[in-house]
Amino acid sequence: MRTSIARQSVEELGGTTSVLVRQRRDHERLDELLRRVRTTAGTEQDEALMCVWRLVFPHAFAEEAVLWPALRRALPDGEELTLQVEREHQEINETVTAIERSRHEDPGRAELIGRAIALLDEDVRDEEDELFPRLQEALGPRELQRLGRSWELVRRTAPTRPHPVVARRPPGNVLAALPLSVIDRTRDVLDSTARRSPSPVASVGRAGSRLLAAVAGVVEQVPPLRRGEDPSTHSGRTEHER
Ligand SMILES: [Fe+2]
Ligand SMILES: [Fe+2]
Repeated sequence: MRTSIARQSVEELGGTTSVLVRQRRDHERLDELLRRVRTTAGTEQDEALMCVWRLVFPHAFAEEAVLWPALRRALPDGEELTLQVEREHQEINETVTAIERSRHEDPGRAELIGRAIALLDEDVRDEEDELFPRLQEALGPRELQRLGRSWELVRRTAPTRPHPVVARRPPGNVLAALPLSVIDRTRDVLDSTARRSPSPVASVGRAGSRLLAAVAGVVEQVPPLRRGEDPSTHSGRTEHER
């Protein structure tokens, strides 16, 4: 029986720079943010949700670009293991896209938020209890630290919003990183400015963000960005078709 990384010391996980320690730190932060989402409503909940998306999308993008390929190389059943988490990530991308499209008064919105929280919790448990202990068995501390550095580098520059249409695997997701990251991070600034500004400035901010969402929808459709995908995590929809 393998021990979950939730119950191991920093030393056992390979030291402070190990990918396992970095992952656990993000998962703990996510837990706090999800508590905020559960206990707030309206604009306050929007702010909390934005913090969740800004944490989880770059985190997951870097998993798909760096960690799951390493897991597939290290473990004989890596393909099967990573496909399961890629499907979870795909479902999270699709659920969050639906939340972003909904309005506060929409009857299904609370259910969608509940679904996203459940999926995020499930993803963390699968990683901490199954995938990472397996990775830990296959790799030594040095390799875990090296992976930690690459994962962190990608995480800091990755897209911050859901992109269900883009491949969940390299090379498509790696090619998508730069253009979608620039668009997403610009939209984050426009949206948070809009939330804090008087109405004329807010409408300009919101219009700019909508325009960039349409641009992202076009970028997502560029064929090389969809390469590498397993058919079971494929989504045919684009941002502006939704
Ligand atoms: Fe994770
Ligand atoms: Fe994940």
